Amino acid sequence: MSNYAERNLEGHHQVSQADPEPVAHLKREHHKFRTLVDRINAASEPHKKKAIAEDLHRLLKSHITLEEEIFYPAIKGKGLVDEINEGLVEHDIQRFLSAQIEAMDETDELYGARLGVLGELLVHHIDEEDDEMFLEARKAKVDFEAIAEAMERREDDLKAEYRKTGEMQTPELDAEVAERNAV
Ligand SMILES: [Fe+2]
Ligand SMILES: [Fe+2]
Repeated sequence: MSNYAERNLEGHHQVSQADPEPVAHLKREHHKFRTLVDRINAASEPHKKKAIAEDLHRLLKSHITLEEEIFYPAIKGKGLVDEINEGLVEHDIQRFLSAQIEAMDETDELYGARLGVLGELLVHHIDEEDDEMFLEARKAKVDFEAIAEAMERREDDLKAEYRKTGEMQTPELDAEVAERNAV
């Protein structure tokens, strides 16, 4: 069985002294994703997978929101346009699968397969962010302190809203995604 969490102790997946705070923050969340994917893969019963997946869906929504609203725009144009565009497309696929899985009953025959594919896509995506995008991003001449503060504020808002309503509302981002995906 794969053990993705262990990979956080290797190479560029580790949080390093050279990582500015926004990058370190996103990497710490990547570590949580890897741990959740490992736990989902290790769970034997569908209802156990579903309970762990609820944390994954919530973290995914918050993490993608911080990246798309704050981190990606801050570093876009610093030689990272292709990486960011690829990241946006991968986020869209993750969002789509995550919403599908959330709406499914865990007894559905495809539940485990959809969740497994989401885990594979997610690990591929965060590997690329750690190994490619973040290595370049940390050289960017941007105000990392301001980016970290903006991310922290937005995350606090998302968490407060989740505690209050059980949902994380991201209407502006949702509108951007809809526009991006309009065919
Ligand atoms: Fe991402
Ligand atoms: Fe990420």
